[in-house]
Formats: sequence, C-alpha cells, structure tokens
Amino acid sequence: MTGKIKETKVNVIKGKLTSYKCDLLILGLLKDTKKLPAEYTELNKALNNTLSNVIRLNDFTGKVNQTSLLYTPESNTVKRVLLLGLGEREKLNSDVVRKAVATATRLVDKLGISKCAISLHNVIGKNLSSEAIGQAIAEGAIFGRYDYQDHKSPEQNSNKYAAKMNIAIPELSESRIGKLRKGVKVGSVLAEGQNRARMIANKPGNEINPPALAKTAQQWAKKFGIKCTVFNKQQLTKMKMNGILAVGQGSVHEPRLIKLEYKGNKKRQSPDAVIVGKAITFDSGGISLKPSQNMEAMKFDKCGGCAVLGLMTALAQLKLPLNVTGLIPSAENKPSHTSYRPGDIVTTYSGKTVEVQNTDAEGRMILSDALSYAAKSKPGAIIDMATLTGACVVALGTHHAGLFSNNDKLKDQLKEAGEISGEKLWHLPSGDEYLEQMRSKIADLKNIGGREGGSCTGAAFLGEFVEKIPWAHIDVAGTSDFSDEKPFRAVGATGFGVRLILEYLRTLS
Ligand code: BES
Ligand code: MG
Ligand code: ZN
Repeated sequence: MTGKIKETKVNVIKGKLTSYKCDLLILGLLKDTKKLPAEYTELNKALNNTLSNVIRLNDFTGKVNQTSLLYTPESNTVKRVLLLGLGEREKLNSDVVRKAVATATRLVDKLGISKCAISLHNVIGKNLSSEAIGQAIAEGAIFGRYDYQDHKSPEQNSNKYAAKMNIAIPELSESRIGKLRKGVKVGSVLAEGQNRARMIANKPGNEINPPALAKTAQQWAKKFGIKCTVFNKQQLTKMKMNGILAVGQGSVHEPRLIKLEYKGNKKRQSPDAVIVGKAITFDSGGISLKPSQNMEAMKFDKCGGCAVLGLMTALAQLKLPLNVTGLIPSAENKPSHTSYRPGDIVTTYSGKTVEVQNTDAEGRMILSDALSYAAKSKPGAIIDMATLTGACVVALGTHHAGLFSNNDKLKDQLKEAGEISGEKLWHLPSGDEYLEQMRSKIADLKNIGGREGGSCTGAAFLGEFVEKIPWAHIDVAGTSDFSDEKPFRAVGATGFGVRLILEYLRTLS
C-alpha cells in the first residue's frame, strides 16, 4: 500500500549566491543581526540594498522561525527572497535549523514553487559542522514538505504544491561542498524513511489492518532489499504467541507478527539490536471500551510499528555495518463476541501468565510476546517504541517521549541520539517497586497497575519479558501524532523514532 509523497531533492552546487537562477532564495539570518552578514553583501547590492533596508527598518529581527517574503526586481536571477530567522547564535543546533528549514519549505510549497535555493550554512558555520548543517537542511526540507493528502478530491484541495521540488545549496569551497553533500545524503535517507513511516501511520483503520500492514512491510522489504517474515494467526497459534492472539481475537482482521531482518555484518550471527514497535491498527479499548471523544486518534496506535518499518527501509539505504531486526506485533483491538475479556488469564509466549484486568492495556499484551521473541535471538540491545500510555502524555506532554531502561549505557546512548535527532527523550523510573503494582493474586502478572505512575508500571511489566538483555522502552504516546498543524509540520503522524533510532544505530557502527 502506498500513498502520495512529494519528492524533494536537495543538491549542493558549486556557485555563488548571486548566480543561481531560481524562483526563490531562502536566506537564513540570526537574531538581532544589526548589519547584513558579509556573505550576503553582493546579493544585497544586486537587489538594490533591499536586504539591508529590511534589517534597518527592524521589520525582520531574525527571531527563530520568523519569515519575510521579498519580491525582487525583474532582472534578477532570483524572483523572490525568503528571509528566515534562525534565532540566537547560542541556541543554534541541528533541531533549530531543521525546524526553520521545514517552516520555510512549507511556505515555499504553498506558493507552488518547484525550484529554490537555500543559504544559511555560511551564517551559522561556527556552531555546527557543515555535515550537520547539510543533514539538518535535507531533513527539514523533506520532513517539512510532507502532507497527508491521500483522500482529498482534487477540486477540494486548494493547495497547489509542486509534485517535485529541487532545492540547491550554493557553495564555492570544495571542501565544504564535500561535507555538505555527505550530510545531505544522510539527511535525505533519514527523512524519506520517516515520511514513509508517516504515510502508513496516517492511514485510517479501514485501510490499514494487521494483514494490510504486513503486506506493506513485504512490499517495502522487497524494494529495499531486506528480509521479511510474516507470522499469521495459524503460525502465531503454533508458536503460542497468546498475547498477540488475545488482543487480536475480537477483530475480523487477524493479527500478525512482522519480522524484518537487515544484515550489514555477515560475520556475526546475532543482531546488534532488535527494534520492536507496537502496531495496534485501531485501539477502541476492546471490551473495556474507550470514551468516544478523540477515539479517531487511535488509528495512530500503530505509530511505533510504522516507525520501525520506516527506519528499516532507511537502514538498508544507509548500509550500516550492523545486523538489525525489526519486530512489529500487530492487532486490531475491538469489542465483539469473540474479544478477550477482563478476567481472562493469558499464557504469554514466555510462559508467564497475565491476568487481564483491562482490555485497553493491550499494547503490553502484544509487546510481551514480541519482546520475549526478541530476547531469544540474544541481541546486543532491545529497544521498543510504543504508544503505550495516556499517563506518559500527562507526565511529559508532547515535547519528549518517555525513556525507560534496564541499562545505563543504552539509556545514555539513546538520550544522546535524541538530542542529535531532535526526537527528544526524558528518562523516567521503572523497576522492582513499580513491578509490585503489576503483581496479580491469581497469575504471574496483571496488565494494569492502578492510577499511580501509569507509564512506569507499564514499563515495569514490559521489563519482565526481556530477560537480561540491555533494553529500553520508549513511550511515544505524546510525540507520535498531532491533531494541529504547525508552521513546521503537517497534522497527523510525525514518524517519531525513525531519526532517533537511526542516529543511535549510526553511533553503534
Ligand atoms: N493506546 C493507548 C495509549 C494512548 C493513550 C496513546 C492516549 C495515545 C494517546 C493504550 O493502549 C491504552 O489504552 N492505555 C491505557 C492503559 C491503562 C488501561 C492502564 C491508558 O493509557 O489509559
Ligand atoms: Mg489501549
Ligand atoms: Zn493502545
């Protein structure tokens, strides 16, 4: 299953700012720039001092993500200039550049422009490496341009986006060109993987169910050269994956376990990491039915799994010398006469028994099987991403995902990857005290632990299925989707986790 994704090509070209012919030039400026940077002097002259005039009049201060669109005299090589605020120099990092570029390209898109140029690396070169800037520009442009428009009839769609946009980064120095290009290449792969994840995550429950998700995984695996194995209901039954089966038994759409294998290091057998992603294609809550308000957003309960799918395709393109397995347990959580019910006792794949006290705590049921399966392959690390708890959204809001781990090194590596990718993590506690809340009187565990510390108890439950393997759980409930549009991002799925995990894997290799 595919959807529409606009094509965005970022190219570093050898040339001067004033010589590249295009419809629009994006010019980055830091906050409180009193004097036009030397890099823009020649262009300013060609534009009859328009740039210095805007600054002198104080109409444009360079506040982060501020934009100002200027129209140039007809004879110029560029038809428009878009001033782009980058904020304070001290606060500059990849994320600031990424968001600013995304804001600019979303604006450019609305003008229907297909050929533009961008220059900001000269102004901010002192804070960030050329490679990091190239990567952030590509990520910002590709992430920014994404919109989910698959279902709008052409006559209802007022947007006049160009299907393809070419963005040039003009630069004269050969050594800088090389570094910028390297960054652009990585950034393009990461952001395209992320948009693939968003495209599938945005699809509604009537289009994407577990078998449809598995089919997409197979198609993409073939396209990107990775191995894909799909376990259907019959096979899951044979394997005793009763957590996945229990959650899926209320729906006519049968559950699946999707396994993707990337082998970049043929010498080693076991995976360096297994990345697990929750993919509930729709979470109604089941018999413990959710309230109807905002229930439509529960099509996004597959975002963890979609992120794994997207990042595996990008990983294959990056060709990292690692072995990585992606595992996506997928089910639809629905109430019906065949649904699992509160009071049921489920023997999970690990052999541990779970008393179901709430069918809406279904993520941990399917993840328990996937995590034990992952642990069996003795990987270097297991990382799971899941829209697991509303409690995490209450605790952290939407700017950080919750991070839980049984291993300090892994925790630190992931936090670092979060800072680089801008997909930020906040470490939260878990462990024995929280596990106490998950003890059942009649089974090994129960699937809810009371109101207190809802994300921490959920994580403690998951921790029971990873044996002694270094493991981290990332609760993405607050970061995986948004119902509002921002200047730098579309409504819907964010693909959170794709860039984060890829940055983590890049540091491993
Ligand atoms: N998918 C939800 C968690 C969720 C809530 C994600 C809001 C995004 C936004 C999960 O399956 C769930 O229902 N969790 C319950 C757990 C509870 C029953 C222990 C929750 O958070 O209420
Ligand atoms: Mg639920
Ligand atoms: Zn859920």
